Amino acid sequence: MKRDIKELLNPALQRIGVYKVEGGQEAEVKLNQNESPFDIPMWLKERILDEFRSESWNRYPDILPYRGMEAYASFLGVSPESVVMSNGSNEMLYTIFLACLGAGRRILIPEPSFSLYEKIALLLQAEVVTVPMRPDLEFDVDALIETAAREKVDFIVLSTPNNPTGKSLSHAAIERIVAAADAIVLADEAYVEFSREESALDLIDRYPNLIVLRTMSKALALAGMRIGFAISNPALMAEITKPKIPFASGRLAEITLVNVLGNYSLVTEAVDYILRERERLESEIRGIEGVDAFESDTNFIIIRVGDASKVFTTLKNAGVLVRNVSGYPLMENCLRFNVGLREENDRLLELLKSL
Ligand SMILES: Cc1ncc(COP(=O)(O)O)c(C=O)c1O
Repeated sequence: MKRDIKELLNPALQRIGVYKVEGGQEAEVKLNQNESPFDIPMWLKERILDEFRSESWNRYPDILPYRGMEAYASFLGVSPESVVMSNGSNEMLYTIFLACLGAGRRILIPEPSFSLYEKIALLLQAEVVTVPMRPDLEFDVDALIETAAREKVDFIVLSTPNNPTGKSLSHAAIERIVAAADAIVLADEAYVEFSREESALDLIDRYPNLIVLRTMSKALALAGMRIGFAISNPALMAEITKPKIPFASGRLAEITLVNVLGNYSLVTEAVDYILRERERLESEIRGIEGVDAFESDTNFIIIRVGDASKVFTTLKNAGVLVRNVSGYPLMENCLRFNVGLREENDRLLELLKSL
């Protein structure tokens, strides 16, 4: 008799689920995926499309998108050999995890953090060691360092600032962890442009075990283009790149990146707006009875309410889509929403006040 289909598959599939966005991806006021509320202006889209038209669509792009990698390396002021571009930072996460993990290897993940980390680790049959955040949702740096040593982990992944808590590690704390760890340390800086803390990027020259991850999906407003980057010293980067899917980034992503980096004032203006609105939202929410806001270091805010499912549904029925993150450890009755346009934020505030 033949085996059940499930027995023929990777046994780790029984421990993971399909990636879902609760509430969907459509709404009048969409605040549930930490996106930028500002699309690229039409004049720049036209310029990008003109360039894209003259490309050879019948030819493969470069194995790795060297034009995009050179542009980003020069933007960051690092050598091109330190940088690899991917189809969204999610693709780079898969690549780095493939390079670092496998059966019998151990990964340390602070909890709660970005759900994809645990999912890929389980898929690769690695052992997951977690360290809880503190009750105020801040990182517990001493516990991270102690646990990494005690559990002899091979790999540490730190989302800083962290999704979904909105809290960051300081530059000094990252350096302490990287210096102490007998492990590869990945600092996922998806939200770094919104942070009060400095990037860990300057540490890559001194620490051969550090990888920094960046995305163009948040501050650079290019979630639809799927662009991410890993940055490390060239020796480590050469190893990490080995499992990478060849030709994963299309020509349009590269052209778009080069043009947006060339018009970076668009990004800084958008970030300034979002930071001003974040401050306004936090201070207004502090005045609403029954709603607590955690101070955020990102483009999203975490609030705690009396009944998160009820508030989520009421907001959704009124056309405002947020994320219910109350299923994460330490985040009972918490909701997450990204900062939107002023009028979108006003709509959310009005609804929260009326509840
Ligand atoms: C911490 C973190 N890392 C990585 C990503 C993935 O970004 P992308 O694949 O769009 O680059 C996200 C997206 O929400 C995130 O929150």
